[in-house]
Amino acid sequence: MSELRNHAPAPAAPVRDRSESRFPGGPVADPAGSHHERRIRSFQPRRSRVTTGQGDALTRLWPRWGFEIDGKSVLDLEEIFDGLPVVLEIGFGMGEATARMGEADPGTGILAVDVHTPGQGNLLGLAERNGLSNIRVANGDAIILLREMLAPAALDGMRVYFPDPWPKKRHHKRRLIQPEFLTLAAKSLKPGGVLHCATDWEPYAEQMLEVLSAHPDFENTQEDGGYAPRPDFRPLTRFEGQGLDKGHIVHDLLFRRTTATATATTAAQGSAPLTG
Ligand SMILES: C[S@@+](CC[C@H](N)C(=O)[O-])C[C@H]1O[C@@H](n2cnc3c(N)ncnc32)[C@H](O)[C@@H]1O
Repeated sequence: MSELRNHAPAPAAPVRDRSESRFPGGPVADPAGSHHERRIRSFQPRRSRVTTGQGDALTRLWPRWGFEIDGKSVLDLEEIFDGLPVVLEIGFGMGEATARMGEADPGTGILAVDVHTPGQGNLLGLAERNGLSNIRVANGDAIILLREMLAPAALDGMRVYFPDPWPKKRHHKRRLIQPEFLTLAAKSLKPGGVLHCATDWEPYAEQMLEVLSAHPDFENTQEDGGYAPRPDFRPLTRFEGQGLDKGHIVHDLLFRRTTATATATTAAQGSAPLTG
């Protein structure tokens, strides 16, 4: 009998259901199952360490201020943000700059999207400590959000600050700012709404300027057709600080959504190719 006991298989380690969160009631790993879509992604899915404070914020605050990008329904931004104009920020990282912009401009709602769990907890904690009610944190791939969950012309603006530069040539296809992304972005922006990008990676800045200038749904806010001066409302971000420490030069790009609708209409009908 004792021999039998010695040879009994060890209890299996619990297998986590993909739809289950690491934090009770918090964000799940892959809400839309999009990591299995045959598509190039602009982020590297990673399992990062979450501090006790971030985990606590995710458990307590996610049910009220967070939501999953599950691709299942179109969001009613009017209701979610109590009628405020809404700006989408893609890739907020640790969220310090997002919280500062939310505090400086309480009359604008910020829909802040990232896949990075520690950052989601960090931003929720910052929003709570600063008494901010104009920030919502979305978990998942911004491409799914734009493609499936935003009504046409739902956004007043869009921010993409220091997107992953993917410096190696074979990874350039993973860069977010590409023509197909811009077509999706244009669909979700109101005419006149501004897409604001910033990067410290010179070759990516050049690519951004080229594809934005060539896209029929965007026009440069700069009369000379070049980079924009850094707007006062954009705080220094964490990645920007790291770039500046390395001597990098930062470029801002401010492009307005035109009233032309040719490509945006195609995207709204769901036929846009995807990148991300
Ligand atoms: C280089 S970091 C910059 C973070 C922050 N904006 C800053 O300047 O410190 C880029 C962030 O974008 C996020 N990201 C990249 N592609 C994304 C996508 N398709 N959907 C949501 N988040 C994305 C990454 O997870 C990462 O946190």
